[in-house]
Amino acid sequence: MTKVAIVYHSGYGHTAVVAEHVAKGVKEAGGEPQLLPITGADANFDPILDAVTAADAVIFGSPTYMGGVSAPFKAFADASSKPWFSQAWRNKIAAGFTNSLSLSGDKLSTLSYLSVLSAQHGMIWVSTGLKPGASLGDTTVEGVNRVGSSLGLMTQSDNAAPDVTPGAGDLATARLFGARIAEATARWVKGA
Ligand SMILES: Cc1cc2nc3c(=O)[nH]c(=O)nc-3n(C[C@H](O)[C@H](O)[C@H](O)COP(=O)(O)O)c2cc1C
Repeated sequence: MTKVAIVYHSGYGHTAVVAEHVAKGVKEAGGEPQLLPITGADANFDPILDAVTAADAVIFGSPTYMGGVSAPFKAFADASSKPWFSQAWRNKIAAGFTNSLSLSGDKLSTLSYLSVLSAQHGMIWVSTGLKPGASLGDTTVEGVNRVGSSLGLMTQSDNAAPDVTPGAGDLATARLFGARIAEATARWVKGA
């Protein structure tokens, strides 16, 4: 069974709900998800770094704060310079997701950063592989990929509690995304 590490930060719980649904999708596709929350900018990141090194794939997740990743996620990314020196994460499958309040909210900036981080580590970035909600015929909160993101998973939550928002469509999209990353990882590992 392929191991998929899901490293994420969530200040107020919304991105955490998305991470849980990504994990469900990984499991449904036959992978073994490992949820690895970043608890703060001054946390000891060594256990997370080691778990990623032991995994076949990593999915990075961060809320979009001020048009980019949150400070705790960036602290983790900076700490990942440790495995970068030995290129310990080279050739793993990588992907990313972000959640924010606005429909756009500059989420693409966050996904761009997550893809660059993965590229610095020499990893293999996997897209959503999902057509936009507009093409699938549903841009409502029930729709799959209603925001139409290709580079990585984008979800949107209102200021209500995380058990209310993001909506059903975004959570279903998170499951499809997790399944795609697990399937890509299985193919990649088998090919190796
Ligand atoms: C410091 C801060 C900066 C934020 N910046 C943005 C932003 O640039 N774009 C946006 O759409 N929402 C922004 N938001 C809203 C959050 O993305 C939104 O509340 C999200 O659900 C938070 O995820 P979390 O509950 O996992 O922390 C910001 C929130 C905070 C606290």
